[in-house]
Amino acid sequence: MTITGKTTVTGIIGAPVAHSLSPVMHNAAFGALGLDWVYVPFPVPPARLEAAVAGLAAAGVAGFNVTIPHKVAIMPFLDAIDPDAELIGAVNTVLVREGRLTGYNTDGLGLVAALAGKLTFDPRGKSVLVLGAGGAARSAVVSLARAGAVRVHVANRTTDAAVTLVDLVAGRLEGTAFAAGSLDALADPAFIGSFDLVVNTTSVGMSGDSFSGLDPALLKSGACIYDMVYAPPVTPLLAQCGAHGIPCANGLGMLVAQGEAAFRIWTGVAPPEGCMERALAAFLPEPCKP
Ligand code: ATR
Repeated sequence: MTITGKTTVTGIIGAPVAHSLSPVMHNAAFGALGLDWVYVPFPVPPARLEAAVAGLAAAGVAGFNVTIPHKVAIMPFLDAIDPDAELIGAVNTVLVREGRLTGYNTDGLGLVAALAGKLTFDPRGKSVLVLGAGGAARSAVVSLARAGAVRVHVANRTTDAAVTLVDLVAGRLEGTAFAAGSLDALADPAFIGSFDLVVNTTSVGMSGDSFSGLDPALLKSGACIYDMVYAPPVTPLLAQCGAHGIPCANGLGMLVAQGEAAFRIWTGVAPPEGCMERALAAFLPEPCKP
């Protein structure tokens, strides 16, 4: 790829950004489509967020991704926010048009796309258990409800956080019955057996840990598990699923799909099918390949 005076710039802001896999995915897709675009990392400390956002817009970038710790803090510095991003309460993608910044959230879209692609799971008419009540859970809850889930139960270590999340979204998402509770219910076979899908949005599994009491063997036949964790690629939860032949997938599919959705927002075109995932697979060490 040759950067010229005409190259369109996109990128990602975060602190840190050095670990981000997004530059690999987006640059591969720009290259595959022959677009004269580039995606670069911008390390932005929290105290410089407002200046960085104004600077990126002033410097003519076409758009950028937003990662930890800026996903919520950036919202007051944008000109417009997509209604679903507003409901999620966080932005991971910004489109810049004629200096005007619009915020989107493609994380939940990425989840729904990964469920379809990796598990052939369509949330329409389904009951879903969401583990966790942080930002990732909120994007999952909003997107699953938008995709037609009839029942979403949020279970969290801190029950109050689950109740707060449900209270925030329930009145604005018609057609879905919401409930909130603690992780204690995971050990109840009747409770676990009532869901078609369990989504882990927490960091549980990143350090070889797992949810005590959660036994995937208690899921009803055909139910699946989606674990947003992708490092390690097989968490203890996913290993348990494997042992019982339960359909499951790790978070790499969601990472790719949220990137594909951001790419479409900026360029107006879809990245070639599988391009971002192949770029990631070529980049990651062997055991982590999607
Ligand atoms: P994110 O934006 O990635 O969702 P977050 O907003 O910090 O991150 O939320 C982290 C979520 O993981 C929370 O639901 C947290 O539970 P608490 O609300 O009780 O803190 C959950 N979490 C983190 N570590 C956990 C653990 N060891 N066991 C259970 N839940 C955990």
